[in-house]
Formats: sequence, C-alpha cells, structure tokens
Amino acid sequence: MSSALFPQHVIARKRDGRSLTRDEIAAFVRGATDGSWADYQLSAMLMTIFLRGMDTPETAALTEAMMRSGFVADLSNVAPPRADKHSTGGVGDKVSLHLAPMVAACGVAVPMISGRGLGHTGGTLDKLESIPGFCVNLTFAEYRTQLEKIRLALIGQTAELAPADKKLYALRDVTGTVESIPLICASILAKKLAEGTQVLVGDVKFGRGAFMKDKAKARELAQTLVSVANAMGTPMRAVLTAMDEPLGRAVGNALEVAESIDCLKGRGPADTMEVTFALGEQMLLLSKVAATKEEARRKLEASVASGAALQKFRELVAAQGGDVRVIDDPTRLPQARLKAAVAAPRAGFVEDVDAMGVALAALRLGAGRAKAEDKIDHAVGIGALVKIGERVENGAALCVIHASNEEALAEAKRMLTKAVVLGETSVATPMLIDEIVG
Ligand code: URA
Repeated sequence: MSSALFPQHVIARKRDGRSLTRDEIAAFVRGATDGSWADYQLSAMLMTIFLRGMDTPETAALTEAMMRSGFVADLSNVAPPRADKHSTGGVGDKVSLHLAPMVAACGVAVPMISGRGLGHTGGTLDKLESIPGFCVNLTFAEYRTQLEKIRLALIGQTAELAPADKKLYALRDVTGTVESIPLICASILAKKLAEGTQVLVGDVKFGRGAFMKDKAKARELAQTLVSVANAMGTPMRAVLTAMDEPLGRAVGNALEVAESIDCLKGRGPADTMEVTFALGEQMLLLSKVAATKEEARRKLEASVASGAALQKFRELVAAQGGDVRVIDDPTRLPQARLKAAVAAPRAGFVEDVDAMGVALAALRLGAGRAKAEDKIDHAVGIGALVKIGERVENGAALCVIHASNEEALAEAKRMLTKAVVLGETSVATPMLIDEIVG
C-alpha cells in the first residue's frame, strides 16, 4: 500500500478539506469490506465526510467503490428496457407492490432488489411476505431467470450485494453520521445500481412521516442522487413527494398488500395512484417506451384497465411461490384476531392525519420493527383510515385497528385518536407531488 493510502493519511486529507482521489476512496471502501481499516478509522472517516461533505465526483467514486465491493448483476439475458424505482420510504408506502407490475405490463422489465428497512412499518419485503408462501430470498441465478421469463422480480438484498454498505451503515447508525447526503446517496445507489437496472426513478419523500423531514434537504438528496447516477451512466430522475399524512388508507403489511391489489384492480386510493402514476410516468419516459408524460400515463392506466398489470402481479406471486388465491380473495391474507373502529368524537372535517402518529401506532401493534431482530406481525395495522379534507359524522369510523391483543389495541386507539385531528371547516387535499428533479 502506498503511504498516501494509509487510513490516517486519507482521513487527514479529508479532515483538511481536500477532495479525495478515486484511489483514496477505493482504499477506504476496501478497508470497510476486508477489515483492513479498524472500526475507529472507518468511523473517523465517516465523521470527516459528514462534516466536510463530498463533491459529485467524490460521491460517484464512493458509490462505485461500494457497488463494486460485492456482486454486480449481469442482466444481459434480460432484453432492454429495464427500469426500477427507489423510495426513501414513508408511512403506508406500498407503491412498489403495484407499480412494478404496472410498469412490467407496459413492456419494461423491473429488476427490484429491496431492503427490509428498519422502519415503523415493514418494508416492501415484509409486505410481500404477508402473502403465504411468497419467497423473497432468490439466488442471483434465479433472479436472472425469472426476469428473463416474466420481466419482473422483487427480491431481498443478498449478503453479496454492496457488503461495504452493510459495514458502513452499521457504523453510521452508532456514530451520528446517518444524515449525510453523500453517504446516504452512495448507500442507496450502490445497492440499486448493482441490481442491473438501466434507468432509475427515485421517490424522495419529505415531511413528518419521511426519513428526510425537511423539504430543502430532501431536494438536495434528490439532486445528489440524480447527479451521481447520471455521472455513473445510469439515467435517473427523482420525484419529490410529501409525506405528512400516510399514503392511502392502509398501514400494516397484509393490509397494504390488499390495498395494492385494489390499486391493480382500478380501485386504489387517489393519493396512492397519484404517486404511482408520477413515478411510473418517469420510468416509462426514461425507458423510452413513451415519448410524453401523457402517453406514459395512458399506458399505465391501460395496464390497469385491461387487467394486464394484475396478471403480471399474479405471475410474480406464482413465480416466487406465493398463494395466488389472495389476489381474488384478499381475506386469505393473514387476519388479525381483533378489529375495532376508532369513532369520531364529533362531526367535522379531517384537518390532519399525522403520519408519524399513525406509524407509531402501527409499530405498537407489531407491524414494524424497533430493532433489526424484532419479528413482524403481518396481520396487524390500521385500515380504512380517513384522509385530510374528508367530512366525518359524529361516531363514524376514523379508521379500523387490526390488533393481536387487547393492550396493543387500547394503546393504538389512544395514539390514533391523537393522530387524527378534526376541525370545523373544510380543508384542501394536500399537494403530494412537489417537483421532478432531473
Ligand atoms: N437508505 C439507505 O439505503 N441508506 C441510507 O443511508 C439511508 C436510507
């Protein structure tokens, strides 16, 4: 190793405000992957990056090195175009489940590798696993073959995918360095670009229920993601979307799968479909299967109206070992033992539904994980949730709680009564799509 690549020298150069070279960044990522840098050196490096930042070439070099720390899928067997989307995550965000088959039904292959997510509610994989038998742990060989056959796969991260991110994310989590735009960007893109997509669309959420609370910060992340993906040769756009109230009317794993199936049957909630179409349009445009937003929208709508998207979802569930009967009969999804409505204490207009309050109630019910090793209860959550702007009568249901025990039900009821605020006058439905970056 050249002395310039000793950990202490690389750390000191960043500490002093210099831009790092590709070799220096590669040495840092190698150090994280093979253990040749000690945890204290990796942590010091993460903190200097957090404090000093990184420019686009440095962030691209970091992303590339992290991506190449593991397996990079070769999908040359899957005919182009191939597109994927990534969401920074939000409460009730089940969009991937129905968007992926809609886009696949429009002729674009969707290779989607998702994380499990340590959120208040489960991630995409947890939602899919509420379908009895559905297997998210495919090998890369199985993933490639399935993509070739049905042009759609939704699987979990394997240990070979960007292992440097696993090490660095664990250190960031305990060193106060998670909220760094270059580190977040490299972490997201290293995994997404290793899965073999040709173009990428990001859903970067901001607001109370989002990872990024602040809109300006979310925009900065969106711009960084787009610049870095483009610099690495993967066309990308990002849609900035609000996450102050939950997306749709269901929060919880099986309940969200049922809502996604409704979306595929043309009965999806308006807000969920608005975000779905905004992301799908960009996926079709970047994939060049539509020339305008309007054409892309028409194709996506037709995929639902014709039943082609629902059929793609059926193929996906069958290919990954799930019980396809849940599609026609969602009562076959896991059902909670207890169901109870939260009654409106008076008549009025829904002024607010606090996404974080709903998320914490879902977590209390067992729909998410407080710690990585926690087990999820797929059946529990919140359904039939009112939306901001709706009128409710005295005693009408604000939502229905699905619980596995009385204590959790009582506590969730208290939390949800606080999360839903009623007012005297009608309020406008909040704007969801803020901006398209890229
Ligand atoms: N999601 C990721 O995968 N990585 C981050 O650093 C933040 C969100």
